Amino acid sequence: MLALNSSLFFLLLSLLTLQCLTAASAACHVDDESGLLAFKSAITHDPSGMLQNWKSGTDCCKWPGITCRAGNRVTSLSLTGQPGKQNSFLSGTISPSLVKVQNLDGIYLQNLRKITGPFPALLFRLPKLLFVYIENNQLSGPLPRDIGNLTQLNALSFEGNRFSGPIPSSISQLTGLSQLKLGDNLLTGTVPAGVSRLKDLTFLSLERNGLSGSIPDFFSSFSNLRILQLSHNKFSGKIPNSISSLSPKLAYLELGHNSLVGQILDFLGNFTALDTLDLSWNQFSGTVPKTFAKLTKIFNLDLSHNFLVDPFPEMSVKGIESLDLSYNHFHLGTIPKWVTSSEIIYSLKLAKCGLKFKLDDWKPSETYFYDYIDLSENEITGSPIQLLNKTDYLVGFWASGNQLRFDLSKLRIVKTLKYLDVSRNMVFGKVPEGITGLEKLNVSHNHLCGRLPPSKFPASAFQGNDCLCGSPLSACKKS
Ligand SMILES: *[C@@H]1O[C@H](CO)[C@@H](O)[C@H](O)[C@H]1NC(C)=O
Ligand SMILES: *[C@@H]1O[C@H](CO)[C@@H](O)[C@H](O)[C@H]1NC(C)=O
Ligand SMILES: *[C@@H]1O[C@H](CO)[C@@H](O)[C@H](O)[C@H]1NC(C)=O
Ligand SMILES: *[C@@H]1O[C@H](CO)[C@@H](O)[C@H](O)[C@H]1NC(C)=O
Repeated sequence: MLALNSSLFFLLLSLLTLQCLTAASAACHVDDESGLLAFKSAITHDPSGMLQNWKSGTDCCKWPGITCRAGNRVTSLSLTGQPGKQNSFLSGTISPSLVKVQNLDGIYLQNLRKITGPFPALLFRLPKLLFVYIENNQLSGPLPRDIGNLTQLNALSFEGNRFSGPIPSSISQLTGLSQLKLGDNLLTGTVPAGVSRLKDLTFLSLERNGLSGSIPDFFSSFSNLRILQLSHNKFSGKIPNSISSLSPKLAYLELGHNSLVGQILDFLGNFTALDTLDLSWNQFSGTVPKTFAKLTKIFNLDLSHNFLVDPFPEMSVKGIESLDLSYNHFHLGTIPKWVTSSEIIYSLKLAKCGLKFKLDDWKPSETYFYDYIDLSENEITGSPIQLLNKTDYLVGFWASGNQLRFDLSKLRIVKTLKYLDVSRNMVFGKVPEGITGLEKLNVSHNHLCGRLPPSKFPASAFQGNDCLCGSPLSACKKS
């Protein structure tokens, strides 16, 4: 009892002294201040004033983007540009003198867009560094061969830069990583086999590079992987069998835009945690396994641009958000029930899916969230007028190459609509004024007639109709 009391007393006492110390030394450490001011001086342009309050002689722990711990030492630098805001960027380089900020455990320089220069070698001289997120900037050149020296790291992201050349094999030494994100760079070569040693990875992204060779068959070593993004590369060969060992946890599997071949294997149906599956733009053939019926949590499914054939399995999803089965060899006939009944769907793309029905008869349970509908190259009849009257936030509607027959002047063109393509149908009537605000339009090869409203679209958007006239087509005859 007594022992407990006294240790409690000492705990309180030490907490109190710690607090006094923190209060007494409010201003930041001189090395940190000079390191951060050097960082600022290598920034040549800061139009949104991200660093304007970084002023010598003021407490750097209070500067925007700076966190201090353990009294007065700066532990993290975090500057983020806002994607939508044009002036929210920093140009310049990362000053090597940032190394003076010796207690840094996190560097977050995200969406600053115009930071240039090579791989920041100062990372090698920050022994406490755990988290590096230098994303959406313009760093370039090779990744250093010694990158594997950064063994203390928990997370490494250089997503969205211009690093080129191979992924150094020493990356296999970064065994503490839970996230490795090198997507959206210019990396080439194969994935080093040693990546299999990064057993704690939860997030591996190498998408949008020029990586080639086969996808290594090394996934049995990853028991915690939730996100695997390898899309938009030049990977060839089959989906490796070891991917099946990721089934209990994997939520995102993105292999689209590669040159993968073979069947979609049954084991993918065992990925019961899957939220997103992207196998688009490959050369997958055969049928989609019946086991897909077990993917009850899937929200985003993109199998478009492959050589897949019927029958498409009946899915039992709670609700699909986006579905793209376009440009395979399917003959779906009608839009599947599990799609029509989804109350959260915002994107439906079923181009060239062998659809053959009257559009007026399609009654989706919910139309509120629809942004994109692509039903091009099918044998759909009827009219989209009812549908577009209910989709209040539609951004794109594509239905070229069908047998739609409706009066274009009666089509409701909602404010959000940017893309409209109903070319090669049997559309009649006049072209309404409402099309002027669209970004892309194609109403060619129909039975439209009358004077065109003013627009910026080329003649090919209107060609092949019965009697359209006015710019960009030939002038209307005076009547
Ligand atoms: C990486 O570590 C090796 C061995 O300790 C060392 O010789 C080398 O200089 C280090 N590289 C860098 C860039 O720090
Ligand atoms: C799916 O998982 C079950 C249970 O773990 C297993 O018995 C079955 O073999 C797996 N199916 C495939 C195709 O891998
Ligand atoms: C469009 O919807 C409005 C409001 O729900 C309704 O009054 C109108 O008749 C509809 N128009 C067509 C062409 O269905
Ligand atoms: C419109 O579609 C036609 C036929 O599909 C095509 O030839 C033409 O290039 C397209 N024009 C525009 C502007 O998209």
